[in-house]
Amino acid sequence: MSDKPAHMNHMPHFLATVAPITIDHAAGSWVYDTDGGKWLDFVMGIAVVNTGHCHPAVVKAVQEQAGKVSHAQMNIYRHQPILELSEKLVEILPEGMDQVMYANSGAEAVENAVKLAKQATRRPGVIAFQGAFHGRTHLTMALNDSAVHYRGHHEPLVGGIYHARYCYPYRTPASEDPTEYALEDVRRVLKAEIYGDDVAAIIVEPIQGEGGFIVPTSEFMHGLRAIADEIGACLIIDEIQAGMGRTGKWFGLEHFGVKPDIVTIAKGIASGYPLAAIAANHELWDKCLPGSMGGTYGGNGVACAAGIASIDAMRDEGMLDNATRQGEKLRAFFTGLQATYPVIGEVRGLGLMSAIECVEPGGKTPSPTAAKAFMAECIKRNLIIMGTGGALGNGVRFLPPLNISDADMDVAFGIFTDDEPALTRRSRELCELRLRIRDTRLCKRKA
Ligand SMILES: Cc1ncc(COP(=O)(O)O)c(C=O)c1O
Repeated sequence: MSDKPAHMNHMPHFLATVAPITIDHAAGSWVYDTDGGKWLDFVMGIAVVNTGHCHPAVVKAVQEQAGKVSHAQMNIYRHQPILELSEKLVEILPEGMDQVMYANSGAEAVENAVKLAKQATRRPGVIAFQGAFHGRTHLTMALNDSAVHYRGHHEPLVGGIYHARYCYPYRTPASEDPTEYALEDVRRVLKAEIYGDDVAAIIVEPIQGEGGFIVPTSEFMHGLRAIADEIGACLIIDEIQAGMGRTGKWFGLEHFGVKPDIVTIAKGIASGYPLAAIAANHELWDKCLPGSMGGTYGGNGVACAAGIASIDAMRDEGMLDNATRQGEKLRAFFTGLQATYPVIGEVRGLGLMSAIECVEPGGKTPSPTAAKAFMAECIKRNLIIMGTGGALGNGVRFLPPLNISDADMDVAFGIFTDDEPALTRRSRELCELRLRIRDTRLCKRKA
């Protein structure tokens, strides 16, 4: 047995948590632990509870649906929420995406998207990107390229998957153009590794999530569209993390105006209820054989009701505009700190999918140590953030709810710079600690 508290001995060790707490309840941007502590949540179940914890309209929809019907396997009969949610999704999806199928998780949505592309094209290959993350199933592990622990010790992985360079402007050599540097590598894959007419799909995140919230150029996304058209492959845009309002638009791809063939959606779709969706045009779906895709739980009634309420709440309460505004504020705040704290190499993101990349001051050498220190300091002050992310382990990612208030954002700003003591029952101890962020390696002042 480990040295964990006795009541945690039945959880596997690798499920260690970022914040050392057990949650009793949560509301909006805040979670409350079983010891009476209050924490500001800048992770939200990793971009899942986009409408804030326990949004009253979502809670009401879930309660009502649970009393009506919870489940109707997709191929046996339908319930009303699955039809209504499909209608709502088609309204917000790019033009032409007129049919939706459901699954339980992001990885399962990606699995189905690739299956759809393979069936539709009758081709075996897939091109994915360095730094990508698409899930933890066997197929999606093979698509990943953001960290070895997402695929290592699991060989043999699914074959026919080739990785090309993602467009990463901050780390493109100064002598190169970020768009061309990345697209040239896709062309290299097509010259050196797989024939174009063997490629079923190019799968890409519109903003890399696990890879470190990397925003590619619009030209890169359009370049992928052009290559997919040229070789007759499907362009799958994985919106699992960037979608559902997270970037200030319903889908990340809208920032570039690029047209997908297949879109995968999960996380924020149902404010925390397990649901994922795969969207495409009916002509593509028509190429799919009956029985080849499906599953017992996809499109669960309660999760669909939560999905409907989530979309309505986001729309009615102007959450996308708030995400844009608060995201700009957050990035401006860190950009303002860059001159004083040169350890902040880059501040980037769209909407409330924002990150800083930590570097050794004076250059661009990644500093995972600084990212880790910063995360630890925030957690000490009862602000939950996700650190040490990105393919280089030096990203700190911020994912507050889309409806975060100015007041809550100010609490976070206070915690980042430690002008404000943490607002918890532990505030006295925290005040005494006064481990100012500038004392950590992250915030070492310029000499
Ligand atoms: C872009 C992207 N695709 C797929 C997934 C996998 O989703 P899930 O964890 O629900 O399987 C994730 C999860 O982080 C993701 O960020």
